[in-house]
Amino acid sequence: MDSLDATRGAPFDGYRRRDVPPPDPELTPVGPGTPCGEYLRRFWQPVAFARDLAETPLRVRILGEDLVAFRDRGGRTGLLHLHCAHRGASLEYGIPVERGLRCCYHGWVYAVDGRCLDTPGEPPGSRLGERVWQGAYPTLEFAGLIFAYLGPSDRKPAFPRYDSYEIAGHTLIPAAKFTLPCHWLQVKDNSMDPVHTAFLHALSSGYQFTEAFGAVPEFDWRMTEAGMVYIATRRLGDLVWVRVCDFMPPNVHQFTREIEEATAPKPASRPVIIRWAVPNDDTTTTNFELAQVDSAWGLSEADVARPGFGQSDDRPYAERQRHPADFDAQSSQRTIAVHALEHLGSADRGVIMLRRIVRDGIRAVAEGKDPWGTDVEEGRTIRTFTQDVVFRIPPAADAEADRALLRATGRKVVTGP
Ligand code: FES
Ligand SMILES: [Fe+2]
Repeated sequence: MDSLDATRGAPFDGYRRRDVPPPDPELTPVGPGTPCGEYLRRFWQPVAFARDLAETPLRVRILGEDLVAFRDRGGRTGLLHLHCAHRGASLEYGIPVERGLRCCYHGWVYAVDGRCLDTPGEPPGSRLGERVWQGAYPTLEFAGLIFAYLGPSDRKPAFPRYDSYEIAGHTLIPAAKFTLPCHWLQVKDNSMDPVHTAFLHALSSGYQFTEAFGAVPEFDWRMTEAGMVYIATRRLGDLVWVRVCDFMPPNVHQFTREIEEATAPKPASRPVIIRWAVPNDDTTTTNFELAQVDSAWGLSEADVARPGFGQSDDRPYAERQRHPADFDAQSSQRTIAVHALEHLGSADRGVIMLRRIVRDGIRAVAEGKDPWGTDVEEGRTIRTFTQDVVFRIPPAADAEADRALLRATGRKVVTGP
């Protein structure tokens, strides 16, 4: 059979184009010891919402590792390897105690740092527990979200503080959690792909946010101190709407509320959703969100915790087929998108830049360096740029006056065609 050559097209050549190359070996696997897995392990990652750690522990799968998250009766949060160091029973059936988690099978107790605190079936005076450690990862709790660090202890970065965590008049609260049956990177590609907001969310699937999203924007993408942004500029009559969204490596992005009608000028708003795409493994991704909520919006906690329209697998297939949204587009790019089969255009520049950031980070870790995004200074706030702003273009008469003023002051005037 001919090898696949995308540059040599021919009608009806499906037979020749059936081969699917393997996914990118550097960007794809996330398990322990893999290039991307070791890269992602160098960052604090959300693993659970505090609201999900109540009476019982929570079994989670993060970066290909089976783990258990819990809160002991003393209020400490922990993340342990799932299988008990004694004889492997799952700690998802464990009992949180005053200090640590007690395995259901023979009652051994592990502290949040993995220390074995009790081996009750052993004779008095037994020192067996002193030699036993359960695998454990450090955790911290922030705004109702439990973060963990799964990397090497001597490379643990400070927890990054984005300026979007503090917005006057808003409260940062836990929001949605939803899982997609696909690789994390295609979930994140979407964050720097503003052209899809015009097509998927408006022109091709029906208006899912506002009609204003149906105007195909002018795009730009820029590197920032925190990562990168897309800038989508739409002209709606005499109004110009500029929407900016941030991506922060390795897997965070943030955006405004998708309710901009762009019918009147308004000052810049700030981020509302901050979202992490956390790989459960190579083929499953869980998004965790925090939301900056204004009490004037009248949203309940349950409202905020519900995934946005079309973000999760919560609609009947027939409806998703007629009105597909993010879940359908992202998870249908194959379970693991095959970059070698793509035909990237100019509107994919943000996707190319995002993947470059990730690949550079993977290579930095492979070379023994610290990847971009981990040089976090304790106490320093990281600036981000997410916003919606709408302004009116001056009427033509004013524009002419502006030009006259510029001419009078001798500055260069750029005139249109
Ligand atoms: S298997 Fe956990 S205490 Fe025995
Ligand atoms: Fe989207």
